[in-house]
Parts: sequence; C-alpha cells; structure tokens
Amino acid sequence: MSQTIVSEDHAPFRRLLRPVIRALRTAYIQGTSVVKLMPSERAIQLYYKYRRKSYDFQWSMDPGYRKGLKRLMELCVAENDTVLDVGCGTASATVLAAVKAKEVVGIDLSPDMIELAEGKVKKKGINNTHLVTTSVEDYTPEAPFDKVISSFMIPHVKPSLRPAIYSCMYNFLKPGGTVGLFGSRGEVCDVYETREVIEKNLTRAGFEDIVLYDVYDIYRIAVARRPIDK
Ligand SMILES: C[S@@+](CC[C@H](N)C(=O)[O-])C[C@H]1O[C@@H](n2cnc3c(N)ncnc32)[C@H](O)[C@@H]1O
Repeated sequence: MSQTIVSEDHAPFRRLLRPVIRALRTAYIQGTSVVKLMPSERAIQLYYKYRRKSYDFQWSMDPGYRKGLKRLMELCVAENDTVLDVGCGTASATVLAAVKAKEVVGIDLSPDMIELAEGKVKKKGINNTHLVTTSVEDYTPEAPFDKVISSFMIPHVKPSLRPAIYSCMYNFLKPGGTVGLFGSRGEVCDVYETREVIEKNLTRAGFEDIVLYDVYDIYRIAVARRPIDK
C-alpha cells in the first residue's frame, strides 16, 4: 500500500483533521482487504452485519468521500433518469441520486446494509426509491436503466470475477446508458483498481467513451457509455 492516504493539503483545519482521516481510511482499507481474503457472499454479509454500525459514521468524517459522491452525481445523474445503485450499502449514493433522478433502485447483498438504507430513505422522506437485497449476479431488472452507479462495491469482488460484474452493469443499462464508478485509486491500495485495470474491464465489457477523473486526494471516478447501437 502506498502511504499517501491523506492529502498533503496544508490548510490549518485539514492539518488538524489529517490524523483522524488517516486512521479512518487505514481502518477502512484494512477492513476491505480482509473481505478480499473471504470473497464468498456469506463472508461479505457477515462482515457487514458487524461493520454496518460504524459504517456511516466513518464515511461522514471523510470530506473526500462526500465530495466524491457529489461529483459522481454531477457527472452521471440527470433529471428523469432511472438509476441503479449497485452495492448501495446504506444508500449514501442512492439518496443523492434520488433527489435528482426520476427513480432509483438500490441493490445490495447484505440484508443488514439494506435495513440501514431503508431507514435512511424513510428518514429523508424519499419516495422514488426501491431497495432490494440481492447480489449483482442474481439481480434481474424489470427494465434497463439510464444510469448505473456504484460506489466502493468493486473492491469486494475477487479480481478474476470482476469482468463478470462489469458485464452485469453493461447489461443493466439501456443502449446509450452511462455507468459511473466511484472508488479509491489502485495506487493507494491494491484492493482498488488502477486506471489501466478499470479501462481494461470497462472495454472488455463493451463500454466506450471511457473517462477517468482523479478526484480529491485518493479517489477516482470512472464514467463510460454503453454504445447506442448495442
Ligand atoms: C464498501 S460498501 C459500499 C456501500 C455504498 N455503495 C457506499 O458508498 O457507502 C460495499 C457494499 O457492496 C456490497 N456488495 C459486495 N459484493 C456485492 C455483490 N456481489 N452484490 C451486491 N452487493 C455487494 C456489500 O454488501 C456492501 O454493502
């Protein structure tokens, strides 16, 4: 793992927060690495059964994550879109998309994360969102979506199985639809993908017009389009 997990930004407030953010990110990255060693669906469900309690608190402390999600919405989600959030977890991206889009579906393997997601959606009074406990692989949408978004789900999938997940995302989209993936950079920790690997996986799945944005200190957003005629 590279050591630069917090920006060397010297603004005084950021400098004060840096040790806290560093500790939270280290905990997150190590936690994700643990899941990498237990890549069964059951292991992920168990992990999130216990991990869920601290999950939102940890991310709420990370300004880069919040800004990254906001940027993902700017890049990917438009009014009148139907959106699928793959590996929605506690619905942090789902609720942001729901404010902008026509309709949002959030899917996640973990019933515990979906329970928290349902609570969040209800608390925010959002009524254009549907949440489903399912793995990406088993999900069959009623109709294809304009947009597919996914935040920090790919690292949970064994690298050899990732091409299949990218293909699922491709198939969830209407022709001409857009995928937007938010995560950390592979240069920060090998659980995440490097630019080359993301491009390779997106291309292999059939996506085109691939653009990668390095956002904030350790994050990355990949945006790509399913060709209109395929
Ligand atoms: C790190 S969390 C990210 C949650 C949320 N997207 C966010 O940004 O906070 C990863 C989520 O992906 C889910 N997940 C992992 N593998 C999955 C799969 N094969 N199908 C569906 N969800 C999966 C986990 O249950 C977990 O909630």
